[in-house]
This record gives sequence, C-alpha cells and structure tokens, in this order.
Amino acid sequence: MTKVLVTGAGGMLGSDLVAVLSSSPSFTVTAARRADLDLLSPAAVAAAVPGHDVVINAAAWTNVDGAETAESAATALNGDAVASLASACAASGARLIHVSTDYVLSGSGSSPYPESAPPAPINAYGRSKLVGEQAVLSLLPSAGYVVRTAWLYGAHGRNFAATMLRLAASRSTVNVVDDQQGQPTWSLALARQLVALASAPSAPAGIYHGTASGSTTWYGFAQAVFALSGLDPARVRPIPSAEFPLPAPRPAYSVLGHDRWASAGLAPMADWHSTLASAVAAGAVRAG
Ligand SMILES: NC(=O)c1ccc[n+]([C@@H]2O[C@H](COP(=O)([O-])OP(=O)(O)OC[C@H]3O[C@@H](n4cnc5c(N)ncnc54)[C@H](OP(=O)(O)O)[C@@H]3O)[C@@H](O)[C@H]2O)c1
Repeated sequence: MTKVLVTGAGGMLGSDLVAVLSSSPSFTVTAARRADLDLLSPAAVAAAVPGHDVVINAAAWTNVDGAETAESAATALNGDAVASLASACAASGARLIHVSTDYVLSGSGSSPYPESAPPAPINAYGRSKLVGEQAVLSLLPSAGYVVRTAWLYGAHGRNFAATMLRLAASRSTVNVVDDQQGQPTWSLALARQLVALASAPSAPAGIYHGTASGSTTWYGFAQAVFALSGLDPARVRPIPSAEFPLPAPRPAYSVLGHDRWASAGLAPMADWHSTLASAVAAGAVRAG
C-alpha cells in the first residue's frame, strides 16, 4: 500500500487526483485542501509530510495575470513553499511529484520542446513556477519529479472549455485567439498519468511533460468543444492575440515533447481531441 499526500486537493487537478487515488486499492490517500495544509507554513509542511511515500503537489498560485502585479506572492507559493515541501520530502524519504507549467518555456520555438529545453519564462507566473522546479530538482535529485502541464480543463474549476460553453449560452458568436498553439489537457487524464508515475518507483527523477499529444490553437480547442457538445463550431470566430490583450504575455508556441515517459516505462498521454471527446462524453466539460 502506497501512502500518498495530495496538496491542493480542492483544486481542479487535485480533485481528480484524489478521485483516481481513492479508486485504487494500491493507495492510501491524505487529501490536503488549503484549509488542511497551508503550504505557506513551513512548519505545517514539515509536520504533514512524514508517513507518506509519495507527495503530489497540485497546489499553486494559478492566477497568471494576477501574478504580474504580485510576483512575490506568487513566488512564495509556487517557489518558496515548493522548496519547503521538497525539503520535507528529502528529510522523510518521500518522493515528490510536483506539477509545473509550459509557461517556464519561452514559447518562441516552432517544434515540440523536449524536457531538456532551457527554461526562459516570459511572464511572472512562469518565473514563479521555475523557482519551484529548480527547488525540486536540486533538493531531490533522485526523488523529485517535475511534471509540466498546460491548458488544463476538467470538471472541478474554472477553465477555458467551461468558459466557452458559458459564452455559447449567451452569445451567437465567440471570438477566440488563433495564433497560440498548445495542448488541451484533461485534468483527469493528467491525474491518471501522475498516479501511474507514483506507481513507478524506479522511474528516473527529473522533468516530464504531462500534456496531451498533438496540438491546436485556442480557436481550434473552442471549435472542438462546440462541435463535441452539439453546437455549431462556425459560431467560433478566429482573432489574433493583439485583439485580446491580457496583462501577462502568453507563449505563442506551447507544444511539449513527451519522449521522457519511455524512460519511466510509461506511455505519453493520448491525443488532445480524442481525450476531449472522452471528457465531454463523461460529462466533465460543463458551462462554468
Ligand atoms: N489550469 C491550467 O491550465 C494549468 C496550466 C499549466 C499548469 N498548471 C498547474 O497545474 C497545477 C494544478 O492547477 P489547477 O488548475 O488544478 O489549479 P487550481 O484549480 O487553481 O488549484 C490550485 C489549488 O491550490 C490551492 N492553494 C492556493 N494557495 C494555497 C496554499 N497557500 N496552501 C495550499 N493550497 C493552496 C487552492 O486552494 P483555494 O481553492 O483555497 O484557493 C487550489 O485548491 C498547478 O501547479 C498549476 O500551476 C495548470
């Protein structure tokens, strides 16, 4: 029986992680929501980790635009608190699976980023998450796993797919940017991949890319959400990012390569479109 501590258990990914782990007889789960374990308290973190074989950190400052004017607060959670968690894991002998982001990369490339690509974040959130990655890799050289994900959607929380369905209910057309490439990723599929990694104790430590295979633009993602939900995809209109300015700059090309899963004996995550079809069929894509 593997004892797993999930931090950020009340979030979109954390909720799915707890569900996947709880459904397996191989795991005992401690589901720590923020009210149970505030990661900003190093003492609380040091007390919570012992007794667990694996810690999966799904907690984060996830307000990408808000981080632009609150970078130190974002870094306190996405960087410093991750260092506390990694130190506690090192002290107790637990493996740490830490969830990170494509935003640690510049997104200026034109072919999928390998796990070894040099990080170069272009916004404050990406910089804050990079601090966390570096803490995991340096404090847990043989028991720290950084799994970068991107473009998450799921049943529990605000996300792009849910927003599209909400807008579809009140507008005849929806404008969506068509010049940013990425990999829409179902949080439940990522949760299953993380649990597979937790089940592979001989997997080499280091960086993995936890995104769906294939790629599309936000416009393509929105069209697929419409079509799979029985709505006319022609109601989605493509626009350039310049027509939808946001406080934090976004990478133009957030497509990640998945080669390193093979070293852990695991398959990469499935194609984004077939996974989205499964998520819609499962009722995990709802207006919100
Ligand atoms: N969503 C995406 O598209 C996306 C893309 C790339 C990477 N990621 C990464 O994926 C991971 C999961 O993201 P998500 O979308 O599931 O995020 P989420 O729904 O925003 O969940 C984050 C969780 O962290 C909790 N939290 C905040 N401050 C905390 C603290 N001080 N101590 C303990 N917990 C705290 C939040 O609790 P409250 O609900 O109480 O605030 C929330 O439950 C994160 O590492 C994120 O950076 C997400």
